[in-house]
Amino acid sequence: MKKNLKIVLTGAPGAGKGTQASRLAAMLNIPQISTGDIFRFHIRNQTPLGIKIKAILDEGKLAPDNDVLAIVKDRLSLTDCNNGFILDGFPRTLGQAQAFDKICKIDCVINLTVSEEKLLCRLTGRRTCKSCGNICHLSSLNGKTDCPVCNGELYIRDDDKVETVQKRLSVYTIQTKPILEFYENKGLLVNIDGDQLPKNVLQDIEQALNKL
Ligand code: AP5
Ligand code: MG
Repeated sequence: MKKNLKIVLTGAPGAGKGTQASRLAAMLNIPQISTGDIFRFHIRNQTPLGIKIKAILDEGKLAPDNDVLAIVKDRLSLTDCNNGFILDGFPRTLGQAQAFDKICKIDCVINLTVSEEKLLCRLTGRRTCKSCGNICHLSSLNGKTDCPVCNGELYIRDDDKVETVQKRLSVYTIQTKPILEFYENKGLLVNIDGDQLPKNVLQDIEQALNKL
């Protein structure tokens, strides 16, 4: 496989970006950079940025392009990105994609495809571990209330309420989907069927990366 891969992982809310990015990051030994996770960190710690964007995220809208680009540039300047990285959930608007294209040449864009009715069920049943960040689904917990990996406390994301999820899905269609054509025209887009077992999704991603 090509070395020092710079990967964009995209897809609708609930497509499995976080699930696959963390597995891929462990497999390739490169960092997973989730703009959503960075924003949630700022909100939890009530930083000036966190205070500014909390209401936007709670409503299921997108953070302003300038704020997103600033946190991504900052994160990519850290030395752990020298050997490549996986961007999880960035870029998310055509403006972000165009601005990012001027400062960084990526190797490929993996787009996870999942039907809309499945996305709603995935998001409203998602549980995330407060301690280790593991993402799981209510349906696989068999009544267990703590994290199957570390026994940490599981929580429901503030933006996983049904109304907010619906808003996020429509924001995705209007504001994010146009980036797919942008990357297709550059020959960077690879569509992967995200509606399979997570391990099979990962296998397909690995195969696609091997072809680069
Ligand atoms: P972000 O945190 O990126 O949320 P999102 O894009 O809505 O995506 P999710 O994290 O909800 O889903 P995912 O694709 O990671 O799925 P997951 O693996 O968790 O962004 C949050 C907010 O931050 C945005 O709304 C926006 O306001 C802001 N933001 C972030 N980036 C931004 C940007 N660039 N510009 C502007 N604003 C930005 O899986 C979901 C569920 O499905 C889990 O329960 C999981 O167990 C299950 N699952 C996963 N894979 C499978 C599978 N193969 N089969 C069955 N179930 C599966
Ligand atoms: Mg995610």
